[in-house]
Amino acid sequence: MSITALPPNTTLQGRSVLITGANVGLGFSAALLALQLGASPLYITCRSAEKGKKARDELLADPLVKKKNPRAIVKVYELEMSKWDGVTSFAKKFLDDRQAASEALDIAILNAGMANLEHELAPTGNEMVLQVNYLSTALLSLLLLPLLKKSITTEHTARLTFITSGSHKSTSLKHPPPNDVNYLTSLNAKKTFSAMNRYGLSQLLLILFLRDLCEKISSDKVIINNVCPGMINTSLDRKVPWIMVLVIWAWKFTSGNPVEKGAQCYIAAVANVGPESHGLWYQRMMLTSYSDVVTGPESKVLRERIWGETMEQLRKISPGVDKNI
Ligand SMILES: NC(=O)c1ccc[n+]([C@@H]2O[C@H](COP(=O)([O-])OP(=O)(O)OC[C@H]3O[C@@H](n4cnc5c(N)ncnc54)[C@H](OP(=O)(O)O)[C@@H]3O)[C@@H](O)[C@H]2O)c1
Repeated sequence: MSITALPPNTTLQGRSVLITGANVGLGFSAALLALQLGASPLYITCRSAEKGKKARDELLADPLVKKKNPRAIVKVYELEMSKWDGVTSFAKKFLDDRQAASEALDIAILNAGMANLEHELAPTGNEMVLQVNYLSTALLSLLLLPLLKKSITTEHTARLTFITSGSHKSTSLKHPPPNDVNYLTSLNAKKTFSAMNRYGLSQLLLILFLRDLCEKISSDKVIINNVCPGMINTSLDRKVPWIMVLVIWAWKFTSGNPVEKGAQCYIAAVANVGPESHGLWYQRMMLTSYSDVVTGPESKVLRERIWGETMEQLRKISPGVDKNI
């Protein structure tokens, strides 16, 4: 399915933008487009300083960036989301730097994410996909909130955009354990892991978290939305066995879009929609209704439980983090 072009008047002139996981794929392309549309400073996160430096050099060497945004500033931060202290140490450094320089943050795009067909535990003890795509992303969003709220001006309300995936629709929260068992912790067990389901489940949990967050934070403080660019040709499937890769590549080449088109979906969600987008989902740039897995009775019951369990974990890592909401 094709993605429409960005309106020609789309601009990020003078906006400060943070994009996580911006060394490759959608994050890199969104970073490039943000610079081409006038964003500065641009903060990118990568898992190593080398990857960051390479991405920064490539971004600033782009002829369109040189022409349209010659004084653009790109700063690189290290962020490893499989570890709690990867998230907290990044957030501390990032926030300290902004405070020291009296800098705001207009836009945060939480893009870093992964897919994994094998069960693997992160150093935190949580299953890796849940840790990176859901728990660490949720923690990072809460750690950034005070700066985003403070960055409001008369012309602009700060943006927090989560990147999610339509694959959340083909998963469900069925068969949760009894109420005296922690649902999130139960998902760390290998027997609960399904290669086809886990990525989508991590996306569903993130959407449910976002929906709760948007009920607690109004759009006049921070505008929070989420974007799925559809199937995009990136290396997200790098951990997928070769036999599956063949299937995915065939799918990508028949129905996938190039990464530049996916990046346009990110930019549309932070530049071309406003408070009306709060809590909502944009798939391939179009406002798309949530399906039953998000709004149906099964999810409604579990949402409160998952929010509670999530905040319990996050408070242990970052005491008082819920007060940022
Ligand atoms: N491609 C699609 O069809 C599609 C569709 C819908 C949504 N999405 C979402 O879009 C986002 C970007 O995906 P992509 O397709 O551009 O994939 P990608 O090319 O694999 O990029 C993923 C980015 O996330 C980073 N990352 C992975 N694990 C990390 C960790 N533990 N800590 C910190 N950073 C980590 C990667 O860093 P390294 O390079 O160091 O691994 C990379 O920068 C993901 O959240 C994905 O779920 C993708």
